[in-house]
Amino acid sequence: MSKLSVEHLLGIKYLTEEDIQLIFETADQFKEVINRPIKKVPSLRDITIANLFFENSTRTKLSFELAEKRLSADVINFSASQSSVKKGETLIDTVNNILSMKVDIVVMRHPNVGAGIFLSKHVDAKIINAGDGTHEHPTQALLDSYSIREKLGSVKGKNVVIVGDILHSRVALSNIYALKLQGANVKVCGPTTLIPKYITSLGVGVETDIRKALEWCDVANVLRVQNERMDVKYFPSTREYSQLFGINKELLDSIGKEIVIMHPGPINRGVEITSDVADSDSSIILNQVENGVAIRMAVIYLLAQQIKR
Ligand code: CP
Repeated sequence: MSKLSVEHLLGIKYLTEEDIQLIFETADQFKEVINRPIKKVPSLRDITIANLFFENSTRTKLSFELAEKRLSADVINFSASQSSVKKGETLIDTVNNILSMKVDIVVMRHPNVGAGIFLSKHVDAKIINAGDGTHEHPTQALLDSYSIREKLGSVKGKNVVIVGDILHSRVALSNIYALKLQGANVKVCGPTTLIPKYITSLGVGVETDIRKALEWCDVANVLRVQNERMDVKYFPSTREYSQLFGINKELLDSIGKEIVIMHPGPINRGVEITSDVADSDSSIILNQVENGVAIRMAVIYLLAQQIKR
């Protein structure tokens, strides 16, 4: 297969396993490119991409911009906090104004669930979801699975636990879809208040004891507690959360087996993970960031192949 089955990247939910393998094989080639002295290919010289960020981002925004520039696309960046959104302009008006400048692909992060899906029905451009509220973050899940594949040879059959604030996490949902599609065994672990009731219907196990979860897994993907999305208290204190669900070196040493540690960032050091774990040899956190560029190059490249030029 050399073509994606979808016209936009709105969520992992809409992809097939073949799509994921095609993205990974394409990313393998781009990973080689970005490790060369000249890290650029001319593939998208005729393509213009707009990065629309209605919510804060460090990794995703920089990674998309770098991926686009490595592909030689023309790039424009939009940040809602410095725009006419502040004067009341709607999402459709904002995007249509940007598209009038002949933009081919829109990469969008938005606080509202389904914002990318909505946009794909109303504008004539390829849409890539860079995170929509608590819903999906597809490129993060792709780079996470790609990093597991790189470290352990494959994703199929691996035991992966996603630890922390599952309820508010688009990374968790996209990872669950991606990992299940590739044949991994998935559990979530965290306070019961931060685990949605529907989670078992996705074929995911629930573990509330962090030690048991770590004893079971090959990979622990540790998530940040998203205080900014919480309007009520979900656990008594940060200190108690760290004691019950935080990953520290003492805990890992007492389990005595090799576990691959991942985190999508940003990290709250000392809350969900201690520095001696985040910066240890077991951690592939910075490999995830590096792989993000190759994965985003692959997604953009494959979607751009569908554009009539
Ligand atoms: N992982 C991730 O989405 O990080 P940013 O919010 O910094 O983009």
